[in-house]
Amino acid sequence: MNDASPQTVYLQNYRPVPYLIDEVFLKFVLAPEATQVTSRLSFRPNAAAQQKGGPLDHDEFGLNQSKLINVIDSNNLARDSREKPVSAFSHPALILDGEKLELRSVSLDGETLEPSRYDLTATNLTIREVPQRPFTLEIVTLCNPKANSELSGLYVSNNVFCTQCEAEGFRRITYFYDRPDVMARYKVRIEAPLASCPVLLANGNPGQSGTIAGGDLHFAEWEDPHPKPSYLFALVAGDLALVSDTYVTRSGRKVDLRIYVEKGKEDRCAFAMEALKTSMRWDEERFGLEYDLDIFMIVAVSDFNMGAMENKGLNIFNDKYILALPETATDIDYINIESIIAHEYFHNWTGNRVTCRDWFQLCLKEGLTVFRDQEFTADIRSRAVKRIVDVKRLRADQFPEDGGPLAHPVRPSSYIEINNFYTATVYEKGAELCRMLQTLIGREAFRKAMDLYFERHDGEAATTEDFVRCMADASGRNLDQFFTWYEQAGTPEVTVSESYDAKTKTYDLSLEQVTAPTPGQSDKRPVPIPLGIGLVGPDGRDMPLDLENVGVLNAPLIELNETKKTFRFRNVARKPVLSLNRGFSAPIRIRSNSGIPEQLFLMKNDGDTFNRWEASQRAAFALIRDRLAGKTSAADTQSFITALGAVLEDGHLDDAFKALMLGLPGEQEIATLIARDVDPGAIHQAREALRAETGMGLKDVLVELWRKTESHGAYRPDPEETGRRSLRYAVLQALAGGDPALATRLAGEQLSRITNMTDEIGALSTITTLDVPEREQALADFHTRHRGDNLLIDKWFALQASAPLSTTPGRVLELMAHPDFTLTNPNRVRSLVGAFAMANPFAFHAESGEGYVILADTILALDPKNPQVAARMATALRSWATLEEKRRGLAKAQLERILGTSGLSRDLYEIVSKSLGR
Ligand code: TRP
Ligand code: ZN
Repeated sequence: MNDASPQTVYLQNYRPVPYLIDEVFLKFVLAPEATQVTSRLSFRPNAAAQQKGGPLDHDEFGLNQSKLINVIDSNNLARDSREKPVSAFSHPALILDGEKLELRSVSLDGETLEPSRYDLTATNLTIREVPQRPFTLEIVTLCNPKANSELSGLYVSNNVFCTQCEAEGFRRITYFYDRPDVMARYKVRIEAPLASCPVLLANGNPGQSGTIAGGDLHFAEWEDPHPKPSYLFALVAGDLALVSDTYVTRSGRKVDLRIYVEKGKEDRCAFAMEALKTSMRWDEERFGLEYDLDIFMIVAVSDFNMGAMENKGLNIFNDKYILALPETATDIDYINIESIIAHEYFHNWTGNRVTCRDWFQLCLKEGLTVFRDQEFTADIRSRAVKRIVDVKRLRADQFPEDGGPLAHPVRPSSYIEINNFYTATVYEKGAELCRMLQTLIGREAFRKAMDLYFERHDGEAATTEDFVRCMADASGRNLDQFFTWYEQAGTPEVTVSESYDAKTKTYDLSLEQVTAPTPGQSDKRPVPIPLGIGLVGPDGRDMPLDLENVGVLNAPLIELNETKKTFRFRNVARKPVLSLNRGFSAPIRIRSNSGIPEQLFLMKNDGDTFNRWEASQRAAFALIRDRLAGKTSAADTQSFITALGAVLEDGHLDDAFKALMLGLPGEQEIATLIARDVDPGAIHQAREALRAETGMGLKDVLVELWRKTESHGAYRPDPEETGRRSLRYAVLQALAGGDPALATRLAGEQLSRITNMTDEIGALSTITTLDVPEREQALADFHTRHRGDNLLIDKWFALQASAPLSTTPGRVLELMAHPDFTLTNPNRVRSLVGAFAMANPFAFHAESGEGYVILADTILALDPKNPQVAARMATALRSWATLEEKRRGLAKAQLERILGTSGLSRDLYEIVSKSLGR
């Protein structure tokens, strides 16, 4: 649709629709290039919107209709700003959304409408006069699923018809009020050829089915009893294999569980099915939430813009997050499958039963559902490990977003293209806000608040305010100030200063918070910051927290609500070492003067596992920063290596935790901390230097661990085995830093006797990061072994794209011409170009700027086909202004080249123009 100057949509312009839809009947006659959709809609005037005093109030005489129409139009979030000819006494027009549709007919209450009765544009169908009582509209349209390369709406993936309607894809299927506050009951009838589409699915419970037209065609009917917004509609039709199981809910209802996959992949669904059942049980136990239909279906497709989609009763997944066998999926794949299945399943209550009033409220379902899936993983695996993994992700993805030109609040107040707001801020920081609420009001009150949320809002389209009000009402706590977290972008930074008075045994902790300005928000308010805290004594034990004017804290938590505050602790027997923001209780940055010795002390002694890990990260960062500044302290490095060695040899710590301790902060994370004149080449070298020293210094310990973590017996994706393997390959990586030849030899030995993909990728990914002769043969062997398995060929592309070698940009260019490469499959694009631009700072930021050119060329070629994915790739350049001068210029030039190209999608235009600060 390529708008010349895309319009911005504002939260403050939200208005309810003038007509509601109660019932939707959809008939699909499927054909790849011309699918006919008949939509019968039962409308009624929306009293809430049209009532005097309501949000759409008109003037005293009810005559100012042209003004009213304009209000409805802009608030309908319609992007067509053309003036509509309106007669002075008409009622609100019915303005439906629709894109890339061919209209065949419209009829109102059975009467076909002449074209003079409606207006048709590229984005809307407007019926100027409709009855002010219930009425029925029937619309017949055609769409072309085969030509749908955007993968939004109805499309064909691998000969399977499937849909993706979030956020605004339903309007590409039929004309509709395509917005989440219009909730209706759907009945669907699908007709398709029996031979090519034996499986016909839609949301809800199955109804009648049978053959038609002498048996070449058949049909199936589905009915969803739960009112839902259009973005949760789904349809699937194709020749798919079925894996089924059953689940009995805690109230004793039997639910059919079905996973549909490409034929021949049936044996790869067992883990996904188990994960589904575990999720269903967990939601009953932890949140008292039961499933509410007789059937729950998951379909795996190979072309998908995101991870998965929570369509009511019919989740659709990127097959990467369903299919797993020990020999095809890594531990990380298994963990992702488990948590994404949980995430989509949990949406059934947080998202579907209670949905969003408008897209500005996206965090209402996404932040909350991420929080729930994080808690799920924490409960069924290791809570400590999960917290560290989530914080690493927040820091790698969300902190740079929040500190750059694309910064936006968890609840944004404007957007150009909503698809650009499925971000780390909305998802991951949104989850952190839920976590802070739970920390502040306590787990019990949080659960009460969730119960209240469902009691009040079940079946409704709610707002973020509604959610926080439940938290406040259930806990009796005023959360007005907390709401700032939802409205204000940027990562707060808390500066710490400490003083200890040995004579009076008092310890003063002074904290000051600052949030740097972000685009459109120059003045920041203080936010309430819950801080987990410990004062660690010289013996390594926590001392009591006796806060002046409060007494001994029963929970080790302090709250910084103001810009500045000093906390005075009494009866502090010895000078403590401060452990602050334990458990990463708030998504902030901490600035303190504490040095490497304090960090090493906490690394050894902190009672909070998260902060033990955090201390290792701070120490490593300090050592890398020293190297960047050209001042290396051999003594500090040695102490760090010794402390790390002690952790690795500690028999009480589990393997997964040790693996995390072995990982130095990532290059992207280091760049974010440095924040200006960033030289990715220098960062890489400084980090590699420390890696080399730790690898050499710990060589004996590492070799011993390599031996001890050898795989025995059948592959199991459980926490213990996964932890063991994560340590094994962290060890191999560390060894590669110190002794590449040895690591190559060990990896090669491992590759000669692999029995599962985790071992295979673990060994191969070490060899491929090294410039060694074995590299090319190992890659060629992998391709030969796994050709024909797309998910594994994705890994083959990603391995090469993420190698931190100076030859990588050239290799990426070559691979883009490889017969297995295609721009039309998002997984493939992400595995090559995404891995290169987003997971390989050293190679992507090659001084020559060739990485930026490769990315820009790809984005420009991709945008006309798939704007969502093109725009996401473009975020790789958002931090251009933090780069050193030369790269800054080269990166900016590519952004400007993109922006100067005509016909950009709204998606890409928004990311690139905002990245350039326009
Ligand atoms: N709601 C999906 C989720 O759980 C996200 C999603 C899937 C999506 N497909 C999409 C968002 C396409 C935008 C466009 O997280
Ligand atoms: Zn989600």
